[in-house]
Amino acid sequence: MADASPSPTFPKTVIGALPAPGWPPTQRDSTSGIDPARIRRMNLNESPFPPSPRAVAAMQEAVTRVNYYPDPQWRDLTAALAAHTGIPQGRIVMGHGSDELIVQVGRLALAEGDEVVVPTPSFPGYAKCAAVNGARLVAVKVRQDGAPDVDGMLEAVTGRTRLVILCTPNNPTGGMLTTDEVVRLARGLPATTMLVVDEAYYEYGRHAGGDDHLAAIAAAGIAAPWASFRTFSKAYGMAGMRVGYALCGSDAVALAFQKIRSTFNVSAVAQAGALAALGDQEHTRSILERTRVERERIVAGIVRLGCEPFPSVGNFIAARTPKPAGTVCAELEARGVMIGRLGAPGFDDYIRITTGTADDTDALLAALAEVLG
Ligand SMILES: Cc1ncc(COP(=O)(O)O)c(C=O)c1O
Repeated sequence: MADASPSPTFPKTVIGALPAPGWPPTQRDSTSGIDPARIRRMNLNESPFPPSPRAVAAMQEAVTRVNYYPDPQWRDLTAALAAHTGIPQGRIVMGHGSDELIVQVGRLALAEGDEVVVPTPSFPGYAKCAAVNGARLVAVKVRQDGAPDVDGMLEAVTGRTRLVILCTPNNPTGGMLTTDEVVRLARGLPATTMLVVDEAYYEYGRHAGGDDHLAAIAAAGIAAPWASFRTFSKAYGMAGMRVGYALCGSDAVALAFQKIRSTFNVSAVAQAGALAALGDQEHTRSILERTRVERERIVAGIVRLGCEPFPSVGNFIAARTPKPAGTVCAELEARGVMIGRLGAPGFDDYIRITTGTADDTDALLAALAEVLG
């Protein structure tokens, strides 16, 4: 049947203007001709290490009961997260990954013509959050150390700013802010601007000696509504399960997220797995420590090959390369290693490498030596 002719009213204008999906590329999109299963995934900031065996067992057990809907209030998981974070259970809202929460905060805060202040380069989801709502993205270049530029972001706030997203540690540059810096930014925002602190890499920051900002933001009595977003996708090794959460600064913020979410947004298997993963902090620590070791090996190796990395605390490293980033990515992919590039204006010659296993590091450095040699 032929496609119906395009409707003048559907989809609404701002949606029609969005780019078609196609991002992010995965191994199955590779044009290298290599069996996708053999391509090393060093491009999506996933954990190369599987989740806790306790999480796997809990998910296997939960899968036998998926004839029933999951708990729509995620009670067991949010109770455990309340104990883990110190944020009251009623202020914790689960998302289908933190990506879903980033889309939702736009629906809550933004109207056409509003402004969203974010760091650049940073997570591409922020641009989508703004564009879907017809809002304008105001991107402020990160500092030399790869952390968001708090002063620059405060200067960028205008009467139209309805949302500020801080990413710390920042993806893809890996720099992180101190609690004093986060609180300074939070205090500088008016009550009409929502603040999101995207802490997808929170556990890596803590492992590297970084601050826990939550109690200080909560105690600072800031005017702006705020939430911190975290995820089970990274340090818990559960990206495929899609579990993220918002730690909200007030009951009103939590209620707003609750009102717009889909009813059963986190599957029963995912809830069971996340709960068990949270209870196995030793496993998380081992993922964090193995990640640190491989990150340091990659940094040392790429510096020897002439790259200039940002000082990252995350499970990824962004670095300027002596060759154009597009060439480096394509030539590595042809050798079976998929990495990413920054893509933000001014960062054309930067690549982003996700840490993998020790074997992945060896393969990456060997391939990169050929590409840059
Ligand atoms: C900074 C940042 N925020 C959010 C996300 C989304 O993570 P998820 O939806 O898997 O929780 C990512 C994923 O890479 C990220 O890097």
